[in-house]
Amino acid sequence: MVLKDYVVEHMEEGIYPWVVLEYLAISNDVGGGNHFHLTSVTPSLLASLPKELDDPAVVHATSQEVISLPTVKEAAAAGRVCLLDPAAPVDLSPEDAQVFDWFVFGGILGDDPPRDRTGELRKYGFQGRRLGPFQMTTDTAIRVTKIVIEDQVELNDIEYVDNPELKWNKQESTQMPFRYVKDKTTGEPIMPKGMREHIRKDTERAFDDFL
Ligand SMILES: C[S@@+](CC[C@H](N)C(=O)[O-])C[C@H]1O[C@@H](n2cnc3c(N)ncnc32)[C@H](O)[C@@H]1O
Repeated sequence: MVLKDYVVEHMEEGIYPWVVLEYLAISNDVGGGNHFHLTSVTPSLLASLPKELDDPAVVHATSQEVISLPTVKEAAAAGRVCLLDPAAPVDLSPEDAQVFDWFVFGGILGDDPPRDRTGELRKYGFQGRRLGPFQMTTDTAIRVTKIVIEDQVELNDIEYVDNPELKWNKQESTQMPFRYVKDKTTGEPIMPKGMREHIRKDTERAFDDFL
């Protein structure tokens, strides 16, 4: 199986710590900077990338927008670029491995309810595919795409955890309004390394601000 290429068009202002964790998880999943491209990173952000991401072995980061990458332009002309789009009329299937070489995602904060910011990427005219009706984090969307395309598993045969509640103690928990892939060993939602800890600290901070 030929490894595919994954592009995240970075659409947030900065790169927050949780985004760093997501991008590191993506790099780890897809085989590093040879297969993970981060596009539309502003020149000032590119010059001050967090050190974990400032490494071409981890991610190929550029200020160019996705369509300006010569290899993407060529693949797009042949119809071989797919935009993972929650509003696409067709779901991704293992057969799409024959159709597409590049998979493009929005580097967008998940919002509840979703605001369809992925729509900004439709201007490129890539074919769209949906990953089912639930909103996923960007790293989950890439994990699921890779399972469908590279492992040839149907979308509906993947085990998921929807809207997990992360419990911090007897009283406190945080509900995540997203779909995650279920870890087969632990039954827990797969999240980037360090993400739970990050969410817990964020929750404590918000609680302290409230007091
Ligand atoms: C956190 S989601 C953002 C969804 C979002 N709230 C919006 O405004 O579009 C980040 C990216 O993951 C991909 N994604 C997430 N869930 C998806 C789904 N169910 N189908 C297709 N793509 C999805 C899309 O590429 C999306 O841009």
